[in-house]
Amino acid sequence: RIPKYVKIVEVGPRDGLQNEKDIVPTDVKIELIKMLASSGLPVVEATSFVSPKWVPQLADAKLVMQAVQNLQGSKFPVLTPNLKGLEAAVAAGAKEVAVFASASESFSKSNINCTVEESLIRYRDVARAAEKLSLPVRGYISCIVGCPVEGAVSPSQVAYVARELSNMGCYEISLGDTIGVGTPGTVIPMLEAVIDVVPVEKLAVHFHDTYGQALSNILLSLQMGISAVDSSIAGLGGCPYAKGASGNVATEDVVYMLNGLGVETRVDLQKLLVAGDFICKHLSRASGSKAATALSKT
Ligand code: HMG
Ligand code: MG
Repeated sequence: RIPKYVKIVEVGPRDGLQNEKDIVPTDVKIELIKMLASSGLPVVEATSFVSPKWVPQLADAKLVMQAVQNLQGSKFPVLTPNLKGLEAAVAAGAKEVAVFASASESFSKSNINCTVEESLIRYRDVARAAEKLSLPVRGYISCIVGCPVEGAVSPSQVAYVARELSNMGCYEISLGDTIGVGTPGTVIPMLEAVIDVVPVEKLAVHFHDTYGQALSNILLSLQMGISAVDSSIAGLGGCPYAKGASGNVATEDVVYMLNGLGVETRVDLQKLLVAGDFICKHLSRASGSKAATALSKT
């Protein structure tokens, strides 16, 4: 029952870099995005049009977007938390945007400085404005199984936010385990609740690998019919407003697993390894990808 094709949504240039303290030069970000796109990734989330006071690393969003907007072959969505972000994104050439809500109140407050309900009102405005411009909107939900402040999050709260995002027109809803605490034991009941209210074709999964559970959670998501998976080159990442959130699952590891399952991704693992190596050298860091580490030894 595993899908024949899985769409990988590369979030490294955004989720991967947003938490880096030292500012990565704009031309390095642009080069990374180009390498990721040329490895065959269908979607490379490029940056965020958020407040530079909140996320200083992505203050160069306009320059990054302008440089990649006309690259062919991949889509380059960007995060837009409000109308101001949407306007700036569109002016810089963005052709797809994403809004990001939370299943937990505390995380909503610390990440976007408003309640869940307030965020949904804001996102309805963003979705309406984007629709007028024929821009597809992706919706994220954070803290789908656990919140750094509140602990366990109920599946019904995730299902509620998922339905709201779907109703406002999000073409895809990415379910984020922001702090990577989920196991199959918590992820399965959450997915069952969400699949009850939103068609499975509209869902994506977004696992951080803090507790090493990401690949098992991805596998069970595929078995439940999900065919879009978010991941980050070299396992970079973490959310600045979620203490302890380590990197996203590494794209190289996801592609390695999918290759083993005979699932098509149209991504060239060798080219991914080169892209991962490039950014890790710039960050003076070992890769967070086990597959990349193993393959580079041979
Ligand atoms: P706020 O302070 O409540 O906003 O922030 P405000 O409307 O009161 O504005 C305050 C200042 O921000 C003003 O500037 C605005 O102009 C400016 P000032 O007058 O003080 O100079 N501002 C902006 N500037 C640029 N672009 C904008 C923008 N909006 C306002 N779009 C806000 C509210 C949402 C803006 C802020 O909290 C914010 O930027 N948060 C972003 C946090 C973020 O990016 N988090 C990481 C991404 S989410 C994530 O990683 C989770 C995910 O990966 C899934 C998962 O793993 O769970 C997606
Ligand atoms: Mg994330």
